[in-house]
Amino acid sequence: MAHEEKGGGGHGGLVYEYIYIAIIVAVLAGFISSLGYYSFALNINPACEAIKADEEQLQEIQQLAFSNPVVEKAPGIYDVYIYGRQYVWIPSTITLENPKQVTFYVATGDVIHGFEIAGTNVNFMVLPGYISKFTWYPPSDLEGELLLLCNEYCGVGHQLMKASIIIERSGEALDTTSDSGGFIEELISLLSITSPTGILAHG
Ligand code: CUA
Repeated sequence: MAHEEKGGGGHGGLVYEYIYIAIIVAVLAGFISSLGYYSFALNINPACEAIKADEEQLQEIQQLAFSNPVVEKAPGIYDVYIYGRQYVWIPSTITLENPKQVTFYVATGDVIHGFEIAGTNVNFMVLPGYISKFTWYPPSDLEGELLLLCNEYCGVGHQLMKASIIIERSGEALDTTSDSGGFIEELISLLSITSPTGILAHG
């Protein structure tokens, strides 16, 4: 009993300190190894692939965004080039017909922007000096106008930075109409009258 009340204080405190240090080291080792496990073993990584790009490659994305932003490589398979800068996405409207697979190549001309298509799983950062590549598989029932916004504060006009992604499913809808319907629609379009199904036909 005597040794417990005399020597317990200082010595016991040091032992606790070693225990705390050991716990902290174990927790840190656990966190770091779980990061490595998710990244390398399970291949869970940030949403987009950031490709290091030189000035020429970045300018190529910029030029494509202005001149030929939407490239349909095969039916429903798209490459889309988008250029962001304070406070616009270029182009401001992107129309995709029956998209199955859309690969975005996005570059910024100034600061970091956040590329997000509201209501979808498309959400990644666009970094200066990199091309952000992201492949999206839009759900087959997704259609209409989607909002492409910037979700990374980039300056006073940040909230103005938006564009439209328009998903058209008109082709598939037309495919399901009967042959006679197709003929009548063709006749109507020849006479340039708006048919009741005009909305479908027009997309
Ligand atoms: Cu670009 Cu906020």
